[in-house]
Amino acid sequence: MSQAPTKNAKLIAWVEEVAKLTTPDRIYWCDGSQEEYDRLCQELVDGGTFTRLNPAKRPNSFLARSNPSDVARVEDRTYICSKTKEEAGPTNNWADPAEMRATMNGLFKGCMKGRTMYVIPFSMGPLGSKIAQIGVELSDSAYVAVHMRIMTRMGQKVLDVLGNDDFVPCIHSVGAPLEPGQKDVAWPCNDTKYIVHFPETREIMSFGSGYGGNALLGKKCLALRIASVMARDEGWLAEHMLILGVKNPKGEKAYVAAAFPSACGKTNFAMLIPPKAYKGWEVTTIGDDIAWIKPDANGELRAINPENGLFGVAPGTNEVSNPNALATLKANCIFTNVALTDDGDVWWEGLDGETPKHLIDWTGKDWTPDCGRPAAHANSRFTAPASQVPSIDAAWEDPAGVPISAFIVGGRVSKAFPLVMQSFSWSHGVYLAATMGSEATAAAVGQAAMRRDPFAMLPFCGYNMADYWAHWLNIGRKLPAAPGIFRVNWFRKDENGKFMWPGYGENMRALEWIVGRVKGTAAAVESPYGLVPRYSDLNMEGVDFPKAKYDEIVKVEKDKGLAEAEDQVSHFAKFGDRLPKEMELERQLLVARLERSPAVWTLKD
Ligand code: GTP
Ligand code: SPV
Ligand code: MN
Repeated sequence: MSQAPTKNAKLIAWVEEVAKLTTPDRIYWCDGSQEEYDRLCQELVDGGTFTRLNPAKRPNSFLARSNPSDVARVEDRTYICSKTKEEAGPTNNWADPAEMRATMNGLFKGCMKGRTMYVIPFSMGPLGSKIAQIGVELSDSAYVAVHMRIMTRMGQKVLDVLGNDDFVPCIHSVGAPLEPGQKDVAWPCNDTKYIVHFPETREIMSFGSGYGGNALLGKKCLALRIASVMARDEGWLAEHMLILGVKNPKGEKAYVAAAFPSACGKTNFAMLIPPKAYKGWEVTTIGDDIAWIKPDANGELRAINPENGLFGVAPGTNEVSNPNALATLKANCIFTNVALTDDGDVWWEGLDGETPKHLIDWTGKDWTPDCGRPAAHANSRFTAPASQVPSIDAAWEDPAGVPISAFIVGGRVSKAFPLVMQSFSWSHGVYLAATMGSEATAAAVGQAAMRRDPFAMLPFCGYNMADYWAHWLNIGRKLPAAPGIFRVNWFRKDENGKFMWPGYGENMRALEWIVGRVKGTAAAVESPYGLVPRYSDLNMEGVDFPKAKYDEIVKVEKDKGLAEAEDQVSHFAKFGDRLPKEMELERQLLVARLERSPAVWTLKD
């Protein structure tokens, strides 16, 4: 065994104990250095997991192709093992903690044989920040080790800050032991998969997958599922939210945090470039996926991005939709499950320029435009250092966080729901977020076509969702000036199935109105659903989006609204007595407003 570069007795004992169970051939403590990163990447190249991209086109960057059965989060294999099933709630898979521990011990027995166990100390949040949390992941995947160096603050500096303090223990195995002389495969994994959380003891165990949120345990497992429980207990919020800053030409700056479900536009919104008509406006990025938000001594909500990198959806990323992302990806990146061009660069559906005549697709096969298969997997992703984002905010690593003026929530809803609206109150905002629906994406395996995804946290809340809504209600009630809560929808489609709103940079028009509302400078009218801007309340200069079209997406059809309110009954019923009173009362208020409305409520201005 290698010498432990720490005196933390609990850590040393735990590493020994896990090694005894999993029997790796070697234990390697990651120091987080560039030299180590380069060496591990080269080992991944030599082992066939990585392809080095053409250094002239994409310096220090790599392509990985996963096993075709291991391409996204596995929600049906994800467990919250709280003491009781009720604490996990009706939206989580629950298993008895003692039984699950036995199951995992059985799976972990000898599972790292023939492999190296990487000890990966990491900090979620700027090192030493009071809001940050330290975890240690033990993993038999070098792919995970190099990812953790991009996605988190990782290595010796974390052990130095940790000292003898406590940490969140995370065990990860791809679940593919190697017998002596047996040849390894490029992407080892196991058909049996378990992503397991013990919220009371703050522990994480993952078996069988090497991909994304299943394997990079600092991200969804720690920073959301475990952190949401810490946040409930300690009076803060751990959210599936981007954080961005917006500055107007007068230099006035505001920060907002926005929850959209997986693959519904957080990365894109966080890097928004304002359209031409917005001269002198600036949008800056603090984070693109996760926000930790705490009230400060003055009762102001302050948010940090606990991550250090981006694990973003590749398809659809191009010079028009997200030029900042493309600039971020110029070097020092890892791409997973995108296509490889003949000159050693990457390609995905929706990238600019002509479609190449020949590619190697994400499964390693020859690909031509007429072959009838996508070249990149729909959930193919890039991994990139946040520091490379051109729009990164000067305060993105400020340990104190940035002050939040507004919360935005939104899903992928092709019918109904306007472009943007504001809640009537904090509790109405929590209700809007709690009933939020979204259509299926490729970010998780086997999603239903349409599902309610409250606060975009359905797969990430580590405890009973009804208690989580109550926690949000409690937080807001204690604030002297609570942020506004807004709901947006970029994904409304017309009868031909085409997106009606141009989206991306044009989302600035909704963002400006949102900031104007919280500053008290923008007007709104009351629709049955919430406070909406009239066409004249939005800046529509330079965008082809006529008033008639806008009014069409803001109109409220009474029968559809009542049907939606009726559908929420079964959604709420799942939570029984734990449902906060406000949720059902807000639902009834919606019904009352709709009943007094005309058959079709429209804007008049
Ligand atoms: P996760 O990383 O899975 O949490 O996803 P995310 O919320 O960061 O989603 P992301 O920004 O990567 O967007 C996912 C997909 O939605 C991409 O294919 C985008 O091109 C598309 N998308 C993002 N913003 C818009 C928009 O404003 N309009 C439309 N029509 N599509 C969008
Ligand atoms: C998501 O699915 O919301 C992601 C990607 O951000 S993963 O890290 O795989 O969860
Ligand atoms: Mn996400």
